[in-house]
Amino acid sequence: MDELREKYLGAIAAAADEAALEELRLAAVGKKGEVSLKMRELGKMTPEERQVAGPALNALKDEINAALADRKVALADAALDERLKGEVLDVTLPARPRRQGTIHPVSQVTEEVTAIFADMGFAVAEGPQIEDDWYNFDALNIPGHHPARAEMDTFYMARGEGDERPPNVLRTHTSPVQIHSMQEQGAPIRIICPGRVYRCDYDQTHTPMFHQVEGLAIGKDISMANLKWVLEEFFTAFFGIEVKTRFRASHFPFTEPSAEVDIQCSFEGGTVKVGEGDDWLEVLGSGMVHPDVLRAGGIDPEEWQGFAFGIGIDRLAMLKYGIPDLRAFFESDLRWLKHYGFSPLDMPSLHAGVSR
Ligand code: PHE
Repeated sequence: MDELREKYLGAIAAAADEAALEELRLAAVGKKGEVSLKMRELGKMTPEERQVAGPALNALKDEINAALADRKVALADAALDERLKGEVLDVTLPARPRRQGTIHPVSQVTEEVTAIFADMGFAVAEGPQIEDDWYNFDALNIPGHHPARAEMDTFYMARGEGDERPPNVLRTHTSPVQIHSMQEQGAPIRIICPGRVYRCDYDQTHTPMFHQVEGLAIGKDISMANLKWVLEEFFTAFFGIEVKTRFRASHFPFTEPSAEVDIQCSFEGGTVKVGEGDDWLEVLGSGMVHPDVLRAGGIDPEEWQGFAFGIGIDRLAMLKYGIPDLRAFFESDLRWLKHYGFSPLDMPSLHAGVSR
């Protein structure tokens, strides 16, 4: 019996695969296996002999079965190890480069402007880019015969055959959003309206589509002094240095009084530097909202008053980031975008140290 034991346990330990194990199982403990045959001989033994041989044979059978199971597990582990070795994933390999887009300077500056005005309590409002001439002109106190209509280089949208209504226009400024906001929310109001505007014009500093941000604050006693403070706070936060402003008396049909606002700058060596020097650069139009405009928006001018302003966003981007030609903004040249664009992970740059 010891011979059998040695023979099978040795063979099982050396078995190379599952098939070999199965053969050994059949040869040892299968129906006609050697151990099984020996068990059948128990019947011929004397009771005394059987009492010794029986348990010994059972123990041997158990031992062989256990060895078969152990070897089976060991073979499976080895097979898995072998497979894993062949499937190594090298996580230290450098990643393939992925092309990343950039944020367009107009989007970046819009975000910056929005964040600065949000700090001063201004919400963002939007209006349609296609307006009828009432919103774009009449409601803003620019009647049909007014020269400002002709000066605006307006794009008119043709009506269908036989449609007698006056043509719609592509809005020439963001000021019509003033009227929409007054009608929708009533007074008081504190909003900015960034967006696209259209004028039929094209050269180094003009494109047929460009961007403005309108500002509108209406309250019981909002004054020109509030306008001046808000604009100075804005320019200082936007350019990151103290920027002096100059208010020049001007005229817009929708504000009274009206002022054009210049910011301090220098023009040395062909570049403009904001916040230094003795020169001035015109950057926006503004004034106190005309009573007729309040009335057109459904607000009583006896009770409410306020200021409005309009700034060119593209212009701000050119000044802050030193971009020379406006036309390139809208040519979708990837090299330009890569050079002047911003990382998508950049937060709007709010400058510390501005008191408010
Ligand atoms: N809408 C004017 C323009 O486009 C700017 C402006 C807005 C002026 C609000 C005064 C008040 O030139």
